[in-house]
Amino acid sequence: MSEKLKIKGGKALQGTIELRGAKNFVSKAMVASILGNSKSVLENVPAIKDVEVVSKLLMLHGCDVSYNKTKGVLEIDPENISSPKIADVDTVVGSSRIPILFCGPLVHKLGEAFIPALGGCKIGDRPIDFHLESLRKFGAQIEKKEHGIRIFAPDGLHGTKINLPYPSVGATEQTLLTACIADGVTQLTNAAIEPEIMDLINVLQKMGAIISVNTDRVITIEGVKELRGFTHISLPDRAEAASWANAALATGGRVQVLGAKQSDMTTFLNIFRKIGGEFDINDNGIEFYHPGGELKSIPIETDVHPGFLTDWMQPLVVSLTQAHGLSIVHETVYENRFGFTNALNKMGAKIQLYRECLGSVPCRFQQRNFKHSAVISGPTKLRGADIEVPDLRAGFSYLIAALAAEGESNVSGVDIIERGYESFTEKLENLGANIELLK
Ligand code: EPZ
Repeated sequence: MSEKLKIKGGKALQGTIELRGAKNFVSKAMVASILGNSKSVLENVPAIKDVEVVSKLLMLHGCDVSYNKTKGVLEIDPENISSPKIADVDTVVGSSRIPILFCGPLVHKLGEAFIPALGGCKIGDRPIDFHLESLRKFGAQIEKKEHGIRIFAPDGLHGTKINLPYPSVGATEQTLLTACIADGVTQLTNAAIEPEIMDLINVLQKMGAIISVNTDRVITIEGVKELRGFTHISLPDRAEAASWANAALATGGRVQVLGAKQSDMTTFLNIFRKIGGEFDINDNGIEFYHPGGELKSIPIETDVHPGFLTDWMQPLVVSLTQAHGLSIVHETVYENRFGFTNALNKMGAKIQLYRECLGSVPCRFQQRNFKHSAVISGPTKLRGADIEVPDLRAGFSYLIAALAAEGESNVSGVDIIERGYESFTEKLENLGANIELLK
């Protein structure tokens, strides 16, 4: 059901919000628990849709899952893991991308896996060819089924050499989760090394895995016989932290983000300061604020870690509509992440999209007809409007735009935002936002 939020803009956000664990880590650690022969405990877990979907999928496979929402503690006991009824798994169809990561662990534990058709944000084609190629290299066979795919390995899964055509986060996780108890050594080249990946490696190492990350982003995994359960506190959500930072900047306010970690956000913090934002790092997190004066336009390019995270881009674009001059954004990770700018232009922004690579180097999308570069001319006065949320990060960007705009906005489809931002309406109210949830 699409929920609508009425927002009265023009008020600076002031106050404190508390960050919890990273959306793009916790669900992967939950999948990793299947590999253990005892219970796992994950802390700092946010109450978001991905956690719900993965919990449901784990329970459908016979795992015991309990989640204390107040404490943010999730316990998983995979002892009675078993093959589910396909019809039950179908109910999870189309609601998340995480199920694809169940492949390796389920084939190891049950000899086969059935993965429903995936969901996830519509910001590009979101193929899984790297994942399937990686699984085949381990010795898995893949059958297309009506609502998904069946993966099995008659001769088991064996260590192999995998080179990723692109440092895909998901394909790196797929390889890590399959290689840990595969028979032999696996070498993964051109791997992703995002902080969320490194925290997944921390979890797997706690479980008994042997994984080394080399300076050239080559990851070597020595397969071991078995793994045990883990206890782990998730790293904080750097994508959510940057979203609140832009909410503070675009509304001329000041927001203390408890739990934000400077070392995961270095690149973002540099850009935030260069456009005229400011921040204080303290023992409890990071306080982001608008120090006064004009915001400055800037050229930025998204990239894999330690580059500018693509999930930071959409909220930053809203801040750039308030910056003096022309800002240029070259999105090199997803081919279709600028669809959300139409609604911003409807609110008074001046954003033009281009097929050309407007950045330091041509990317995979050059000459492929994707409008993956944007030029933002500012500052522009934003006026309230009726807008529909297309994806998670764009959705939060619309909230920022509506908060910064003059007048009233009706933002529909805000339930999509709940996928990644726990209790965001309460957080907005605590920061003084003038909002009303319309059923
Ligand atoms: C993860 O997506 C995150 N999602 C994304 O966050 C994040 O933007 C992305 O990594 C990059 O950091 C989760 O972790 C749940 P990829 P993932 O595989 O793993 C292409 C958010 O808003 N590709 O690194 O799906 C793909 O099309 C979300 O929190 C293939 O071509 O990202 C894309 O162009 C959005 N074939 C590029 O690689 C494949 O088999 C990066 O994708 C896999 C990927």
